[in-house]
Amino acid sequence: MTRMHDDLIIRPAGPEDERELAVLNHAAWSVLSDVSPEPSVEGPVFDERRTSEQFLLAVLDGRLVGYVRQVPATALAVNAHVRQIQGLAVDGTVRGRGVGRRLVEAACDEARARGARKVSLRVLGWNTPARRLYESCGFVVEGLLAEEFLIDGSYVDDVWMARRLVDRADG
Ligand SMILES: CC(C)(COP(=O)(O)OP(=O)(O)OC[C@H]1O[C@@H](n2cnc3c(N)ncnc32)[C@H](O)[C@@H]1OP(=O)(O)O)[C@@H](O)C(=O)NCCC(=O)NCCS
Repeated sequence: MTRMHDDLIIRPAGPEDERELAVLNHAAWSVLSDVSPEPSVEGPVFDERRTSEQFLLAVLDGRLVGYVRQVPATALAVNAHVRQIQGLAVDGTVRGRGVGRRLVEAACDEARARGARKVSLRVLGWNTPARRLYESCGFVVEGLLAEEFLIDGSYVDDVWMARRLVDRADG
Protein backbone atom coordinates (compact mmCIF):
# COMPACT_ATOMS: atom_id res chain seq x y z
CA MET A 1 0.00 0.00 0.00
CA THR A 2 1.36 3.42 -0.93
CA ARG A 3 2.34 5.73 1.92
CA MET A 4 1.48 9.38 1.47
CA HIS A 5 3.49 11.21 4.09
CA ASP A 6 4.93 13.78 1.69
CA ASP A 7 1.59 14.77 0.14
CA LEU A 8 -0.48 14.83 3.28
CA ILE A 9 -1.13 18.12 5.05
CA ILE A 10 -2.13 18.22 8.71
CA ARG A 11 -3.73 21.55 9.62
CA PRO A 12 -6.05 23.06 12.22
CA ALA A 13 -9.76 23.11 11.35
CA GLY A 14 -11.82 26.24 10.93
CA PRO A 15 -15.57 26.86 10.92
CA GLU A 16 -15.57 26.59 7.11
CA ASP A 17 -14.56 22.91 7.32
CA GLU A 18 -17.78 21.85 9.04
CA ARG A 19 -19.60 20.65 5.92
CA GLU A 20 -16.78 18.35 4.75
CA LEU A 21 -16.25 17.13 8.30
CA ALA A 22 -19.93 16.19 8.59
CA VAL A 23 -19.69 14.08 5.44
CA LEU A 24 -16.56 12.30 6.68
CA ASN A 25 -18.02 11.82 10.15
CA HIS A 26 -21.14 10.27 8.67
CA ALA A 27 -19.21 7.97 6.33
CA ALA A 28 -16.76 6.81 9.01
CA TRP A 29 -19.43 6.02 11.61
CA SER A 30 -20.02 2.39 12.55
CA VAL A 31 -20.76 0.31 15.64
CA LEU A 32 -17.14 -0.86 15.54
CA SER A 33 -15.97 2.54 16.74
CA ASP A 34 -18.94 4.56 17.96
CA VAL A 35 -21.39 4.37 20.84
CA SER A 36 -23.24 7.55 19.87
CA PRO A 37 -26.02 7.45 17.25
CA GLU A 38 -25.13 7.72 13.56
CA PRO A 39 -24.43 11.41 12.84
CA SER A 40 -26.27 13.28 10.11
CA VAL A 41 -24.42 13.85 6.85
CA GLU A 42 -25.68 17.44 7.13
CA GLY A 43 -24.04 18.03 10.53
CA PRO A 44 -23.78 19.97 12.69
CA VAL A 45 -20.31 18.91 13.80
CA PHE A 46 -19.46 21.96 15.90
CA ASP A 47 -21.37 23.29 18.87
CA GLU A 48 -20.55 25.03 22.15
CA ARG A 49 -18.62 22.03 23.45
CA ARG A 50 -17.19 20.73 20.16
CA THR A 51 -15.42 23.70 18.68
CA SER A 52 -13.38 23.84 15.47
CA GLU A 53 -10.20 24.65 17.43
CA GLN A 54 -10.25 21.14 18.89
CA PHE A 55 -9.87 19.49 15.48
CA LEU A 56 -6.79 18.76 13.38
CA LEU A 57 -7.49 17.79 9.78
CA ALA A 58 -5.66 15.55 7.32
CA VAL A 59 -5.93 16.98 3.81
CA LEU A 60 -4.80 15.22 0.63
CA ASP A 61 -4.95 17.01 -2.73
CA GLY A 62 -7.35 19.53 -1.22
CA ARG A 63 -9.69 16.82 0.06
CA LEU A 64 -10.43 16.16 3.72
CA VAL A 65 -9.39 12.54 4.43
CA GLY A 66 -9.23 12.44 8.21
CA TYR A 67 -9.48 14.26 11.50
CA VAL A 68 -8.53 13.98 15.12
CA ARG A 69 -10.21 15.86 17.98
CA GLN A 70 -8.33 16.52 21.17
CA VAL A 71 -9.53 18.26 24.35
CA PRO A 72 -8.61 18.67 28.02
CA ALA A 73 -9.48 15.40 29.78
CA THR A 74 -11.67 17.36 32.23
CA ALA A 75 -12.12 21.02 33.22
CA LEU A 76 -10.33 20.43 36.56
CA ALA A 77 -7.13 22.37 37.24
CA VAL A 78 -5.62 19.31 38.94
CA ASN A 79 -6.18 17.36 35.71
CA ALA A 80 -4.89 20.03 33.34
CA HIS A 81 -1.76 18.06 32.43
CA VAL A 82 -3.87 15.41 30.69
CA ARG A 83 -5.43 15.81 27.27
CA GLN A 84 -7.78 13.35 25.66
CA ILE A 85 -8.36 12.22 22.10
CA GLN A 86 -12.14 12.26 21.63
CA GLY A 87 -12.58 11.50 17.96
CA LEU A 88 -10.44 10.08 15.20
CA ALA A 89 -11.48 9.01 11.73
CA VAL A 90 -9.87 8.36 8.36
CA ASP A 91 -11.77 8.17 5.08
CA GLY A 92 -12.30 4.54 4.06
CA THR A 93 -10.60 5.08 0.67
CA VAL A 94 -7.22 5.96 2.21
CA ARG A 95 -7.02 3.72 5.27
CA GLY A 96 -3.88 1.67 5.84
CA ARG A 97 -1.61 4.34 4.37
CA GLY A 98 -0.40 6.08 7.49
CA VAL A 99 -2.97 8.89 7.79
CA GLY A 100 -4.26 7.72 11.17
CA ARG A 101 -0.74 7.51 12.55
CA ARG A 102 0.05 11.03 11.33
CA LEU A 103 -3.10 12.37 13.00
CA VAL A 104 -2.39 10.67 16.33
CA GLU A 105 1.20 11.92 16.31
CA ALA A 106 0.02 15.45 15.45
CA ALA A 107 -2.47 15.34 18.33
CA CYS A 108 0.31 14.26 20.71
CA ASP A 109 2.59 17.05 19.41
CA GLU A 110 -0.17 19.57 19.98
CA ALA A 111 -0.86 18.24 23.48
CA ARG A 112 2.86 18.49 24.29
CA ALA A 113 2.96 22.06 22.96
CA ARG A 114 0.07 22.90 25.31
CA GLY A 115 2.07 21.58 28.25
CA ALA A 116 0.42 18.17 28.61
CA ARG A 117 2.29 15.27 30.20
CA LYS A 118 -0.13 12.60 29.09
CA VAL A 119 -2.68 11.87 26.36
CA SER A 120 -5.54 9.48 27.12
CA LEU A 121 -8.40 8.01 25.11
CA ARG A 122 -11.16 5.41 25.19
CA VAL A 123 -11.62 2.75 22.54
CA LEU A 124 -14.09 -0.08 22.15
CA GLY A 125 -12.57 -3.48 22.87
CA TRP A 126 -13.57 -4.89 19.50
CA ASN A 127 -12.07 -1.98 17.49
CA THR A 128 -8.88 -3.82 16.52
CA PRO A 129 -7.65 -1.35 13.84
CA ALA A 130 -7.81 1.57 16.29
CA ARG A 131 -6.28 -0.40 19.17
CA ARG A 132 -3.37 -1.53 16.99
CA LEU A 133 -2.85 2.03 15.76
CA TYR A 134 -2.75 3.45 19.29
CA GLU A 135 -0.39 0.70 20.47
CA SER A 136 1.94 1.37 17.57
CA CYS A 137 1.96 5.05 18.58
CA GLY A 138 3.07 4.19 22.13
CA PHE A 139 -0.29 4.06 23.94
CA VAL A 140 -0.76 1.38 26.59
CA VAL A 141 -3.90 0.05 28.24
CA GLU A 142 -4.39 1.71 31.63
CA GLY A 143 -7.76 0.22 32.45
CA LEU A 144 -10.79 -1.56 31.14
CA LEU A 145 -14.50 -1.39 31.92
CA ALA A 146 -15.60 -4.91 31.08
CA GLU A 147 -18.80 -5.34 29.03
CA GLU A 148 -19.58 -1.64 29.47
CA PHE A 149 -21.70 -1.31 26.34
CA LEU A 150 -24.41 -3.50 24.80
CA ILE A 151 -24.11 -3.00 21.05
CA ASP A 152 -26.20 -4.95 18.58
CA GLY A 153 -26.62 -7.76 21.09
CA SER A 154 -22.94 -7.97 22.14
CA TYR A 155 -21.37 -6.74 25.35
CA VAL A 156 -18.26 -4.72 24.47
CA ASP A 157 -15.42 -3.54 26.71
CA ASP A 158 -14.56 0.15 27.16
CA VAL A 159 -10.74 0.23 27.00
CA TRP A 160 -8.82 3.18 28.46
CA MET A 161 -5.42 3.83 26.92
CA ALA A 162 -2.80 6.51 27.48
CA ARG A 163 0.60 7.67 26.33
CA ARG A 164 2.98 9.58 28.52
CA LEU A 165 4.63 12.53 26.80
CA VAL A 166 7.47 12.87 29.33
CA ASP A 167 9.61 10.31 31.10
CA ARG A 168 8.70 9.73 34.75
CA ALA A 169 12.30 10.66 35.60
CA ASP A 170 11.69 14.12 34.12
CA GLY A 171 9.46 15.00 37.06
C1 LIG B 1 -8.59 3.45 13.13
C2 LIG B 1 -8.29 4.30 11.89
C3 LIG B 1 -8.31 5.77 12.28
C4 LIG B 1 -6.89 3.92 11.38
O1 LIG B 1 -6.53 4.84 10.35
P1 LIG B 1 -5.47 4.42 9.19
O2 LIG B 1 -5.13 5.65 8.45
O3 LIG B 1 -6.02 3.30 8.41
O4 LIG B 1 -4.24 3.90 10.08
P2 LIG B 1 -2.70 3.86 9.61
O5 LIG B 1 -2.62 3.52 8.17
O6 LIG B 1 -2.01 5.09 10.07
O7 LIG B 1 -2.18 2.59 10.46
C5 LIG B 1 -1.23 2.73 11.50
C6 LIG B 1 -1.14 1.42 12.24
O8 LIG B 1 -2.41 1.07 12.80
C7 LIG B 1 -2.60 -0.35 12.74
N1 LIG B 1 -3.75 -0.64 11.87
C8 LIG B 1 -4.41 0.22 11.06
N2 LIG B 1 -5.44 -0.42 10.45
C9 LIG B 1 -5.43 -1.68 10.91
C10 LIG B 1 -6.24 -2.82 10.67
N3 LIG B 1 -7.30 -2.78 9.83
N4 LIG B 1 -5.96 -3.98 11.32
C11 LIG B 1 -4.92 -4.06 12.18
N5 LIG B 1 -4.10 -3.00 12.45
C12 LIG B 1 -4.36 -1.84 11.81
C13 LIG B 1 -1.31 -0.91 12.19
O9 LIG B 1 -0.45 -1.18 13.28
C14 LIG B 1 -0.77 0.24 11.38
O10 LIG B 1 0.62 0.22 11.24
P3 LIG B 1 1.30 -0.51 9.94
O11 LIG B 1 0.62 0.06 8.73
O12 LIG B 1 2.73 -0.11 10.06
O13 LIG B 1 1.03 -1.97 10.13
C15 LIG B 1 -9.32 4.02 10.75
O14 LIG B 1 -9.41 2.61 10.56
C16 LIG B 1 -10.70 4.56 11.04
O15 LIG B 1 -11.01 5.70 10.70
N6 LIG B 1 -11.58 3.73 11.65
C17 LIG B 1 -12.95 4.14 11.95
C18 LIG B 1 -13.01 5.16 13.09
C19 LIG B 1 -12.29 4.67 14.34
O16 LIG B 1 -12.24 3.49 14.65
N7 LIG B 1 -11.76 5.65 15.10
C20 LIG B 1 -11.11 5.38 16.37
C21 LIG B 1 -12.12 5.53 17.47
S1 LIG B 1 -11.38 5.20 19.07
